[in-house]
Amino acid sequence: MKDIYILGIESSCDETSVSIVKNGCVDIATVVLSQMDTHAEYGGVVPEIASRMHVENITIVVEECLTKANMTMDDITAIAVTYGPGLIGSLLIGVVAASTLSYIYKKPLVPVHHIAGHIYANNLEKEMQYPALALVVSGGHTDLIYMKEEYSFEKIGGTLDDAVGEAYDKVARVANLPYPGGPLVDKMSHTGEDTYNLPLPLDDDSYNFSFSGLKSAVINLVHNEQQRGHEINLANLTCSFQNRVVEILSKKTMRALKEYKIKNLVVAGGVSANSGIRARLTELCKEEDINLSIPSLKYCTDNATMIAAAGYFAYKLGRRAEYDLKAVASVKLH
Ligand code: KG4
Ligand code: ZN
Repeated sequence: MKDIYILGIESSCDETSVSIVKNGCVDIATVVLSQMDTHAEYGGVVPEIASRMHVENITIVVEECLTKANMTMDDITAIAVTYGPGLIGSLLIGVVAASTLSYIYKKPLVPVHHIAGHIYANNLEKEMQYPALALVVSGGHTDLIYMKEEYSFEKIGGTLDDAVGEAYDKVARVANLPYPGGPLVDKMSHTGEDTYNLPLPLDDDSYNFSFSGLKSAVINLVHNEQQRGHEINLANLTCSFQNRVVEILSKKTMRALKEYKIKNLVVAGGVSANSGIRARLTELCKEEDINLSIPSLKYCTDNATMIAAAGYFAYKLGRRAEYDLKAVASVKLH
């Protein structure tokens, strides 16, 4: 069979990224231009700045990726692009770039949902097996998704309020850690002990999650202690917080695997870089004989490699977009 080369474009938040992936699994070349340092000055992503920076960088990143791969657009089979969800101004730049390239070079245009991309990051190092359960944990999502077969997505549970990455970033803020705080909270948690009596959030029979109560419990605790003139042990606080997050995520994930009789678990999204989640799920999956896949760290946060990998499966299924493809800020994964 002829090899399929997908050129992927991702610009849903603050990374401008382009990648070329062969047959949905081989990363030929990837360029990720992060704007993190610029946004860190403001304590979070500023949408207007993000989209302006995407405009400045997108063509440079496309050219750099082709040069790195030693390829031209003639070698590309199709173009895959994140059309949503994300920041509308940021998404728009990637979508316009992809549809323009698709029009000029007469290449099929394949729309990819950002979360399908995160999930298919797992196909880059090991071929995904089905049926699978995907635990999606990012700055915008916390979902459990049942995948009966290739590129099929059925949500069985999700967060009722904050996404887990969002809770991490807010806890980081009260701990005076710079944006994005998730990785720093993770790091700090290893220097402390679980001494704070924080609640295990939404510990019920559903597959839903809730992190706003846990986040508020942390914020209130810090404020109350400050008002009393007591010192907070931030290492112990981050350790207690991370333990609750890891416990509830792993508890519901393992129960879903059992109930749906699934032997393959894939973890996806920026928070899958979390050392506590990686360690606990590795341990539990070994005990339960589950085939666990977690992307290596470079594929956990936003990148176009995962979009090109997912794009390959969408392309094979015949998913196509017209040149007037719309970017959408909020869209469900089907
Ligand atoms: O998937 P992603 O790059 O962007 C979205 O699609 O949302 O995820 C970013 C999120 C941020 O909230 C960041 O703080 C969090 O992932 N994150 C972490 C870790 N690394 C990234 N959260 C906890 N522990 C980490 N090691
Ligand atoms: Zn993401």
